[in-house]
Amino acid sequence: MVEVFAPAKVNLSLHVTGQRPDGYHLLDSYVCFADIGDRVTVAKADETSLSVTGPFAKAIPTGADNLVLRAAELLGVSAHITLEKNLPAAAGIGGGSSDAAATLMALTDLYNIPVPDRDAVLTLGADVPVCLMRGQVRMRGIGDDLAYITESRMGWPMVLVNPGVSVSTPEVFRRLARKTNEPMPDDILEDTYNEFPDWLGHQRNDLEAPAIELEPVILDVLDALRAETGCRIARMSGSGATCFALFDEDDQASDAVAAIRDAHPDWWAVVAIS
Ligand code: C5P
Repeated sequence: MVEVFAPAKVNLSLHVTGQRPDGYHLLDSYVCFADIGDRVTVAKADETSLSVTGPFAKAIPTGADNLVLRAAELLGVSAHITLEKNLPAAAGIGGGSSDAAATLMALTDLYNIPVPDRDAVLTLGADVPVCLMRGQVRMRGIGDDLAYITESRMGWPMVLVNPGVSVSTPEVFRRLARKTNEPMPDDILEDTYNEFPDWLGHQRNDLEAPAIELEPVILDVLDALRAETGCRIARMSGSGATCFALFDEDDQASDAVAAIRDAHPDWWAVVAIS
């Protein structure tokens, strides 16, 4: 039996810099991974099966197009797979992609086989290759051009908030007013801890405006985070609806979660370390 953690993926920035003829968008994104996430467990079996547990289990379809099952199919192996679903689905924090990446890691370990090449992994989803890397990554292309900024965690106290609406990624991309936006500067700020949120403040998530147009409650989430003491930056991750905020101190992050849960008992709000 092998168990692999599937961390939440957070796009600290997400610049849309172009569009390919096949419709996929070119991105320039600063990606990090949190210390919270799902958990994938695999055990050898003659036929593949999937059990989903955890607080968000109900939202997960268990049919053949489930990304965990597609990952097993890509490898051509069978296993009993258990997915502990702690992250909201279709939420912009890579739940499905991170689960698929964790499944690839777990099954290749269980059967002692190699991880497929990046193009094969990309067929599972544009965010699956980055989810195999962890650490802090600059993601370009459609998710296929990947470079570590550093392999370690950032360490900023972070709050993640999801207002309980799921957002269709293709629909958000479709509503994007301008497809060719400025990339991130090439001199990505590294190792200057205290200046990082200010540097990040000059970057963007170009999908934030079209996602807010679709689901105005995302703006309420950002306003609630920005109202909290110590919030250095608040922004949407991926195509939403989850937003993140970075705080100076752990206590400020915990207080923010308590205040947001109090005001919005139906929202998902958690403290994490980035
Ligand atoms: O690759 P994934 O299945 O996660 O993407 C979902 C949808 O999001 C794609 O079908 C596409 O419409 C859109 N997308 C895009 N450009 C990307 C990634 C995703 O247009 N780089």
